[in-house]
Amino acid sequence: MNDYDASTYGDGVADVYDDWYPGGDPEPIVHRLSGLAEDGPALELGIGTGRIAIPLAAAGVTVHGIDASKAMVARLRSKAAASGIPVTIGDFTSFELEHRFSLVYVVFNTFFSLLEQEDQVCCFQTVADHLRPEGRFVLECFVPDLGRFDRGQRFAVHAIDDEGIRVEATLHDPVRQGVRSKIVSLTADGARFYPLQARYCWPSELDLMARLAGLELEQRWGGWSEEPFTAASVNHVSVYRKPG
Ligand SMILES: C[S@@+](CC[C@H](N)C(=O)[O-])C[C@H]1O[C@@H](n2cnc3c(N)ncnc32)[C@H](O)[C@@H]1O
Repeated sequence: MNDYDASTYGDGVADVYDDWYPGGDPEPIVHRLSGLAEDGPALELGIGTGRIAIPLAAAGVTVHGIDASKAMVARLRSKAAASGIPVTIGDFTSFELEHRFSLVYVVFNTFFSLLEQEDQVCCFQTVADHLRPEGRFVLECFVPDLGRFDRGQRFAVHAIDDEGIRVEATLHDPVRQGVRSKIVSLTADGARFYPLQARYCWPSELDLMARLAGLELEQRWGGWSEEPFTAASVNHVSVYRKPG
């Protein structure tokens, strides 16, 4: 019954993504990532429409990308500023690129789009295999908050404007650490459905996956401006490093 795969989310949202998630000023993210890349090339997992990759490349970092959604990459390709960014169409669970990177990064909770623990473990190993010695793997993720769910479900309003409304209906499976959502856009033209699935994990589980892949936790911040990570943090930026 689950015909959801690595390209489903991106193919669904590609034409609305930049409007829905303008993302604010990317400067703090770009500043931190370019420092972590040092002098080497970077790889973005789930590069999407280039929200981060384009300004990072403009800051002087050589950026490659991988994404499973041809529709998202077509949006990236429509932007002149992305012309120098090579993108591989594929699943970032497991891939084989000829380059080795000083930085691999995955932002905006995109790591959680891998729906099985085994796939997430495999991704860490694949990333470790593509890092240069002393290279870094950086993840930006939310901290799970199970208080969002009421008896395994959640209904939330994302936007109300002159065109209509956008809402999200979600079911939570605490055994799989999985969420299955439909974002629904309701306008005078009718309803459009955008499927979204994820497997969340806590920072401690990420740390174990990193250890399995031979990576060491170097830093964990509560945000891109190096805010301390505390019990109140709702997001984290975790930096893992491959030994030299
Ligand atoms: C939430 S968007 C983030 C895009 C971009 N990184 C940003 O921050 O705006 C997630 C992206 O990851 C891609 N994606 C999701 N799962 C993937 C997978 N298993 N392999 C490759 N790409 C994937 C989607 O197609 C989409 O472009």
